[in-house]
Amino acid sequence: MLIAHLSDFHVFADRQETSLVRPDAVDRARKVVADVTGFSPRLDAVMITGDLADGGTEQDYALLASVIAPIDAPVFVVPGNHDRREGLRAAFADRLPFGEGRLLNYETTCGSIRVIGLDTKIEGRVDGRLEPETLDWLEERLARPAEGHTYVLMHHPPFHSGMAALDAMALTGGGDRFAELVRSHQGSLHILAGHLHRPYQTIWNRALATVGGSPAFQFALDLHPGAPEPGTDDEPYFYFIYRLGHDGETVHTRPVSLQVSKE
Ligand SMILES: [Fe+2]
Repeated sequence: MLIAHLSDFHVFADRQETSLVRPDAVDRARKVVADVTGFSPRLDAVMITGDLADGGTEQDYALLASVIAPIDAPVFVVPGNHDRREGLRAAFADRLPFGEGRLLNYETTCGSIRVIGLDTKIEGRVDGRLEPETLDWLEERLARPAEGHTYVLMHHPPFHSGMAALDAMALTGGGDRFAELVRSHQGSLHILAGHLHRPYQTIWNRALATVGGSPAFQFALDLHPGAPEPGTDDEPYFYFIYRLGHDGETVHTRPVSLQVSKE
């Protein structure tokens, strides 16, 4: 099975909510999608870990729908801090089994894998939290035996990057209990996140944990302890492709040139 992990498109129809988001964010997102759909062999699933829209108006989600329309594989998403729950719910209501409540948590399957989407958004805040009701719900789901891999999608990383200023605005609530649930899960778990606008990977409580980069803008890498929020840079963009086989899971990087020709 081949899975693309994308994140943080930040597409907007009229005006960006985030000053760092490039004005051509939608063109760059379309370039990424074109690469995903053109990849051979065909990808079996696409996972997008939040901040799909930058502001989340109805027009933003209509634009997002046109961006992802060429993808003919199942698409799984979670809300980021720049998404709006109502807009995202409406945009993906026919694809994802969201629960009835306010939070956009869900569990589903795709081929041999189980996919769990977790809502970490805090209204009006940049950082994120796993609500007690989400953790209760997750505990019950992780207690069930899963035959294959479980992919847990969330926007805010629960693990550190080493860039203190960015880590301070990642998952700031519910992380300890989440760590416990991950640690005690009997099965293969892969946690996918976004939000930090730089790709990185780690092993966290025995689970593979990966953070997807963003085509909308990328933070520079500054690993000086206590460094302030880094500026943006023009490093090459890439996304992850996960290859899941009977011999395990492999993480591949796939670069995409995001230069948009001006005509
Ligand atoms: Fe973002």
